[in-house]
Amino acid sequence: DEAELIQSLVKRILTKLKNTPLGVAKYPVGLERRFEELKRIVNVNSKGVLILGFHGMGGIGKTTLAKALYNKLVVHFRRRSFVPKIREASRMEGGLESLQAKLISNLTSSKESGQRIENVGAGIDLIRSLAFEEPVFIVLDDVDDLRQIKALAGSRDWFYEGTRIIVTTRDKEVLPESIVNVFYEVKELTSPEALQLFSFHAFGRDQPNKSLKGAAEEIVALTGGLPLALEVFGSFLYDKRRAEEWRDALQKLRWIRPQSLQDVLMISFNALDDQEKCVFLDIACFFVQMTMTREDAIYILRGCGLNPEITIKVLTAKSLLKIIEDGILWMHDQIRDMGREIVQRENYDHPSMRSRLWDRNEILTVLKNKKSAFAYFIEMCKTCFPWKQDNEEVVTLQTTCFTRMVDLRLLQINHVALDGGFEHIPAELKWLQWKGCPLKTFPFDNCPQDLGVLDLSESKITSMRERRHSKKQVQKEKNPLTRVRFFSCLPSLNSFKKSIKFSRWQKN
Ligand SMILES: Nc1ncnc2c1ncn2[C@@H]1O[C@H](COP(=O)(O)OP(=O)(O)OP(=O)(O)O)[C@@H](O)[C@H]1O
Ligand SMILES: [Mg+2]
Repeated sequence: DEAELIQSLVKRILTKLKNTPLGVAKYPVGLERRFEELKRIVNVNSKGVLILGFHGMGGIGKTTLAKALYNKLVVHFRRRSFVPKIREASRMEGGLESLQAKLISNLTSSKESGQRIENVGAGIDLIRSLAFEEPVFIVLDDVDDLRQIKALAGSRDWFYEGTRIIVTTRDKEVLPESIVNVFYEVKELTSPEALQLFSFHAFGRDQPNKSLKGAAEEIVALTGGLPLALEVFGSFLYDKRRAEEWRDALQKLRWIRPQSLQDVLMISFNALDDQEKCVFLDIACFFVQMTMTREDAIYILRGCGLNPEITIKVLTAKSLLKIIEDGILWMHDQIRDMGREIVQRENYDHPSMRSRLWDRNEILTVLKNKKSAFAYFIEMCKTCFPWKQDNEEVVTLQTTCFTRMVDLRLLQINHVALDGGFEHIPAELKWLQWKGCPLKTFPFDNCPQDLGVLDLSESKITSMRERRHSKKQVQKEKNPLTRVRFFSCLPSLNSFKKSIKFSRWQKN
């Protein structure tokens, strides 16, 4: 009938708009059953303000359920917002304000990424004034601190009648009963659902092969209905069809702590070869947080002498890595955290002994503290990524602190000033990102020999060192820079086009 037609039209138009609907799991299972349970609670036709708290352990499917429900209900609301990754985003400086800005820009459907919010109080006032005009539908995903809810949905009486808000969290304790009026525990999948999900990943269909049915059932029982574990372990077994391989896998599962997601994920990691492990760790420690595309990651990793195309394919086949919209690399938090923990475990006490450093404070301590930097094997430290936060003083690092890092492959020193000669930058360096480089002149007399990518975007460089960097020299170099980002500001470089690939970087 007409109403239905209009509904479906509205839905199709909405799909075209940004912010909805969201991609849910590849093989969703058990969602309909949960919708049935939630239908009565959420009832969009009833009055009143509902703030619904989803709680349950990591990887159980809270975000997936919230997304699916969002997609289902979003047609009923003109103003709506799905705010992802609240736990992570609020760790950053000004994180709460930027989350508020995101919520506000979604609710006003403004195209801009959001106005700047001076402070949390001002953000609250703005949200309240918007939310009081008409019913809104909001999902606050992955909350782990009371302050986050207080800043985004601090009280039911901020909101217009008919408003629906879903808050998800691993820790029920952070959801105060004064704000959240209904709690919903997201529980494990039932055994048949778990077997179905596992089979999708292990066999590419909704039930196991006959010959492996017994093993599959046992695996499902051991992984305890945790979707992420089923996904990763199922994918781990996808290319394995021999009974011994399955017996082996089962044996490994029996040894782990019951229902320990991290342990299940580790089995999959341990089965990777060295190169796959290396790429996995680079992605977990750096690339996912940089929202890097698959293409850029491949470019960088190839520069490091790896075979990234195949490796990334393997990692995605094993469900350890996903490629989301616009080709961006994505990892589930739990998987990323496992990767980071593997690196931290290389040496808990001394960050300078680890293969990768990504925590700004740890990096600065390692680099600034000459004593420790020279006492430990800094060459272990293959990758460093400090980054600048807003309204912060420029950090100056001595170039000499890199002397010991002979294995350094990837270095990100955005908005950092360097002091000292550039001959200390390790010759092995493959990728250097130095956005906002404060120098006026191109810093290198001789670029590190193996450098494949030099990204000096947003920098102040206006001239080259004429004498050394003649066209001839760049062409003569064994491994000339293959890609220089944002060098269009350098007129003198235009003549180097043959040896320096400007490619698409130049556009942005
Ligand atoms: N019902 C489901 N059907 C199929 N796959 C699912 C389902 N629920 C979750 N998954 C898969 O399991 C993984 C973990 O789910 P999700 O991210 O929703 O967990 P979470 O509870 O939000 O975890 P965290 O607390 O770490 O945020 C995802 O990769 C998702 O694709
Ligand atoms: Mg989640």
